Amino acid sequence: MKTTTNEIADGIFRFSTCVPDVTPDGFTFNQFLIKAEEPLLFHTGPRAMFLLISEAVSRVVPIEKLRWITFGHVESDECGSMNQWLAAAPRSEVAHGSVGVMVSLNDLADRPPRMLQDSEIIDLGGKRVRHIDTPHVPHGWEARVLFEETTRTLLCGDLFTHTGDGPALTAVDIVGPAKKAEELFHATCLTPNTAATIRKLAALSPKTLAIMHGSSFNGDADRALHDLAGLYDRWLREASQTG
Ligand SMILES: [Fe+2]
Ligand SMILES: [Fe+2]
Repeated sequence: MKTTTNEIADGIFRFSTCVPDVTPDGFTFNQFLIKAEEPLLFHTGPRAMFLLISEAVSRVVPIEKLRWITFGHVESDECGSMNQWLAAAPRSEVAHGSVGVMVSLNDLADRPPRMLQDSEIIDLGGKRVRHIDTPHVPHGWEARVLFEETTRTLLCGDLFTHTGDGPALTAVDIVGPAKKAEELFHATCLTPNTAATIRKLAALSPKTLAIMHGSSFNGDADRALHDLAGLYDRWLREASQTG
């Protein structure tokens, strides 16, 4: 396995590792680094990938300069190596929403995490990130996303997950591939709030969607988010009719 590095928006770097045996056409695990006075990592990767990913990140910023370790929700690909990063970057702090901190991270993180309120902004110096709680979207009570305001990049985690080892950045349809992956994995919680939460993200008018599994997207993000919301609305309606 190897990790490739691409700058997908000004100062936003994507590290991508394709694991071949998850699906027949492979499956990528991606981390994102926001380069700023206070560099921020979104997704740590699992523990077994720490050496591979940290080596790639260190070619963009020295690991010990990392200030923020963040992720969407508590799963091994999102945060498995959190404590390895905390050890490698002595000034770094884990930051997450209140549910994630209270339910899991106060106990799991080797240093006390920073608890963020919904919509709270961290000024990274040159970049600004807004923390947004998205409970159960795509999954996990503590789920959240991060919006980098200067580049309008939405770090949307497992939303739009799709298989294959495509380009780092694409403007072609990602909703079709996301639909196929959802039919394969059934990873998203289908609740009355799913579509509404996704539509709220569209209201941020993102320019780039930084996607954890698959290509990042710089086409019509507003339309992609509304189409994805529409898909979950339809599935919820169908489920309640057959249920
Ligand atoms: Fe996940
Ligand atoms: Fe994930």
